[in-house]
Amino acid sequence: MIDVHPSYSLTNNINVYCMNVLLLGSGGREHALAWKIRKSGLLNNLYIAPGNAGTATLGMNVTIGVTDFDAMKRFSLDHDIDMIVVGPEVPLVAGVYDYFHHDEDVCHIAVIGPSAEGARLEGSKDFAKKFMTANGIPTARFMTVTLDNVTEGNTFLDSLPSPYVLKADGLAAGKGVLIVDDLNEAKRLLREMLGGMFGIAGRTVVIEEFLSGIECSVFVLTDGKSYRILPVAKDYKRIGEGDTGPNTGGMGAVSPVSFADDAFMEKVRRLIVEPTIDGLRKERIEYRGFIFLGLISVEGEPKVIEYNVRLGDPETEAVLPLIRSDLLDLLVAAATETLDEKTLETDDRYAVTVMMVSGGYPESYENGKVIGGLDDVRDDCIVFHAGTKKAGDKILTSGGRVLSVTACGKTLDEALAASYENAGRISFEGCYCRKDIGSDLRRTQ
Ligand code: AMP
Ligand code: GLY
Repeated sequence: MIDVHPSYSLTNNINVYCMNVLLLGSGGREHALAWKIRKSGLLNNLYIAPGNAGTATLGMNVTIGVTDFDAMKRFSLDHDIDMIVVGPEVPLVAGVYDYFHHDEDVCHIAVIGPSAEGARLEGSKDFAKKFMTANGIPTARFMTVTLDNVTEGNTFLDSLPSPYVLKADGLAAGKGVLIVDDLNEAKRLLREMLGGMFGIAGRTVVIEEFLSGIECSVFVLTDGKSYRILPVAKDYKRIGEGDTGPNTGGMGAVSPVSFADDAFMEKVRRLIVEPTIDGLRKERIEYRGFIFLGLISVEGEPKVIEYNVRLGDPETEAVLPLIRSDLLDLLVAAATETLDEKTLETDDRYAVTVMMVSGGYPESYENGKVIGGLDDVRDDCIVFHAGTKKAGDKILTSGGRVLSVTACGKTLDEALAASYENAGRISFEGCYCRKDIGSDLRRTQ
């Protein structure tokens, strides 16, 4: 059994018909979450900390940093918050769940996300690999290396075929993974990582066998006992078409994904999702929130590339528009361990989101460009704000990833055409988007 804190009442005292929700984060994922939560029949007030120009149209933005737990507590008490929905990983790794859960003034507030211990699935690659090994979950062979066992690390590299995968153990803002073709270069970079190339996050390095296949993102909502799997998505990480150039925070996403068919998803459920939830229970890790499985299909066999403890960005901007059920109702069920009583109803269409980014991103770029054409977008498309700021009656760019344009369609082609057509109606100086989102999946549709 999960070790429940004595003062925790499984949030039975949530006023579920009139909920005040505080959503943490400020990107496209959080705009999509705010958009979906706003539609809930259970919602009273929605607050977003710190939010963006998009979330401001759906609730009230509040200037609280996502790890300022004391300010969050004061705000929650002042505004009768019933639930905190956590968008990004940083507050989870920093222990937002535990902070609220173990404080008798605020332990009645449900926090959607894992405990800090559960968040280690994302916060430490070594922890995640050991968890997978202990629970028989398919993943790449690996070895964890510190300055104390570099020689063994080099011997492990010698035993692997090229390319070599080196991962900083800790959070490194999505930049901590190196994939290197040359063995000597891999050994050199291993020493540099251990020497502080990624700061403290890289003082421990996980060396992994390279897996070759096609990737997808699977999001699982769990109450710690039962679970629901959301529509599967694929994101596009590189800046350039054909998956070239540097990594970004994500240039677009598609859902569902043709190769993640029923047979594949049955394997995901049996080999990965259920052993993950059982493993959390066995290790007495409290987890009521989203688990993000970064999967790779190696000749039809799913393997875990990474765990994250939140929803993906920009996948959320494609996945949430395909969910028909009331999301807040599902989140209450996750918080109160009643998810087995709920069904997750989904739309059988395709959704595509195309990210519009600032010229120069992911390297240097300028902020403050006026965004035009937002009112010209068709009503059945949704423009999620990722990096924007309101200035008077204008909306300005305020980040590398600026807007995520989502459209649905009966076919992938229809969704792609609508998303690109509407993205074309929006403009700002220097704006760029990849033109090939979903094109790899069109061939196998
Ligand atoms: P991660 O932060 O662990 O998701 O890694 C970032 C990206 O590196 C993944 O999305 C994959 O594209 C790639 N990657 C990570 N690990 C491996 C692996 N073992 N084999 C092949 N590609 C990988
Ligand atoms: N799109 C990948 C992520 O959110 O980490």
